[in-house]
Formats: sequence, C-alpha cells, structure tokens
Amino acid sequence: MANRVAGKIAVVFGGGQTPGLTVGNGRATCLVLAREGAHVWVVDRDLASAQETADLIRQAGGAADALQVDQTQEKDVQGVIAKVHQAHGRIDIVHNNIGGSLALGDATADVLTEAAFDASFAVNLKSAWFAAKHALPFMLEQGHGSIVSISSVASIQAYPLLGYKTMKAALNAMTENMAAAHAKHGIRVNAILPGLMNTPMAIENRVAKGQRREDVVADRDRRIPLKGKQGTGWDVAHAALFLHSEEASFITGVTLVVDGGETIAHGH
Ligand SMILES: NC(=O)c1ccc[n+]([C@@H]2O[C@H](COP(=O)([O-])OP(=O)(O)OC[C@H]3O[C@@H](n4cnc5c(N)ncnc54)[C@H](O)[C@@H]3O)[C@@H](O)[C@H]2O)c1
Repeated sequence: MANRVAGKIAVVFGGGQTPGLTVGNGRATCLVLAREGAHVWVVDRDLASAQETADLIRQAGGAADALQVDQTQEKDVQGVIAKVHQAHGRIDIVHNNIGGSLALGDATADVLTEAAFDASFAVNLKSAWFAAKHALPFMLEQGHGSIVSISSVASIQAYPLLGYKTMKAALNAMTENMAAAHAKHGIRVNAILPGLMNTPMAIENRVAKGQRREDVVADRDRRIPLKGKQGTGWDVAHAALFLHSEEASFITGVTLVVDGGETIAHGH
C-alpha cells in the first residue's frame, strides 16, 4: 500500500540514527513516511546521518531533504521550520524522535548532577516544545497539522533513572495539553511510548561496554510477552505512520504504547 500520507510535508527531528546493525526509530519513520508519499525533511544534529537517511529515501524513489539542526537550540528549530514553510507553504507533520537517558549522564536522584538533569530536560522535553511552538502558528493558519512525539514506556513504568522517566512523563503531559488546546483548530497531537526495541540506540552502547550482543538481545527479548521478541524501529514507524495519516483523523491526545505487551505483563 502506498499514499497513506501522500503529498504531506513532514519534518522528522532525529531522523538520522546511531550507527549499528539494525534500523533506528527515527530513520525507519522517515523511510515509511516517504514510502507512503510524504516529502520528508530529515533533520538531525548529525548531518551525515541525516543525509544517509535522505539518500535511502531518494534511492527508493521518495522525496527528501536533509538538514543539520540541534533541536535543543530554539534558533535552530525556528530556522528549520521557517525554511520548510518557505519551501512548501505549509507543514503537515512534525515528528519529534530525539531522546536519551544514560548517554546524557542520567542517574538516580541522589547522584544526578544538575548538568545531567538539564541535559535530559533539553533533549527529552524542551526540544519537542520548541518544534511545536514554531510549527503551531503555521498549522493554526492552515487549519490542520499532526504532531507526534516519541516518549517511552519508561514514563509509565518503574524506570530507575530520574531524568528520562520524569521528562518523558512530562512529554506525555505536554502532548495532552497541546492536543486539548489546539483541537478546535484541527491540529492533532499524540505520543508513542515504545518499549524494548532492537535498535542501535538500545543495543550498541551496551555492546561497546563489553556485553556480548547475543546476550543483550536475548535478555531484552526474554522480557517481551508477544512472541518473546523485542520490537524494531519499523514497529514505531508504523504506529507513527498511522497517527500522522488521515486514518487517525479522530485521534488526538493519546499516548500509544507500542511494547509487545510488556507493560500489561509486568505492571506499571
Ligand atoms: N530503542 C528503544 O528501546 C527505545 C525505547 C523507548 C523509547 N525510545 C525513544 O526512541 C527515540 C530514539 O530512537 P532511535 O532509535 O531513532 O534513536 P537513535 O539514537 O538511533 O536516533 C536518534 C537521532 O537523534 C539525533 N539527535 C540526538 N540529539 C539531537 C539533538 N539535540 N538535535 C538533533 N538531533 C539529535 C541523533 O544524532 C540520532 O541520529 C528516543 O526518543 C528514545 O527515547 C527508544
């Protein structure tokens, strides 16, 4: 099937990916949106990685541009949104994929540093607000728009580290707030809560620290009720495609869990 988001203009923040053997959530989402007819602006702090995603899209016959942006910097975000609007006269889809925990120095409350708290706040929460803040005026003017942010089941589970859990939970609250505030203007705002996904972001840093790849994968697979296997970037991408498409035209303010049953099996 093609054309589920035909002709839509999409901006995907964090559309590159951590290098590794599998596909990341952001790259998979860019590829799926483009395959279904969207023009995708792949935006990432890592320009080479964004370009790699855009090249993959073009090789498959899709439309894409790549830009370097640090989403934690308001001026960068404002600049990219303005550029996309200038190019097309509208912005239909904003997708917020960036996020991080351990790599930002996340820890429990007793040892978390102020710098790591601030980094978690900037990457997991403020970045998505910047994108919404600067895209919403255009979306309000055009009378439609879809914003999806990638949260995490950590926001509703007993995740051990303070920054990630707290900021992702706040991202869910921000999603609900914006959905309610802008519903009457036809703007839909939703979040996806992935569980354990077999993506480079989740696997490679553990392998780099000396753990065997097979052990990391097997340990994560064991925790998933649905067929005993982690999800992939494609599972997040397909959920994102649905939420951004007209098929979800009556859906706003949801925090959609995509976790193979992990949350219902192991509790909140
Ligand atoms: N993989 C999992 O198991 C899992 C589980 C739950 C939630 N998530 C969420 O999924 C999202 C990431 O998934 P992914 O697989 O695409 O990760 P990824 O690390 O492969 O890709 C994220 C991209 O974001 C970019 N990025 C990071 N900081 C940025 C910034 N400040 N400005 C612009 N770009 C920036 C990186 O360069 C990278 O290309 C995160 O929000 C994460 O919290 C992942």
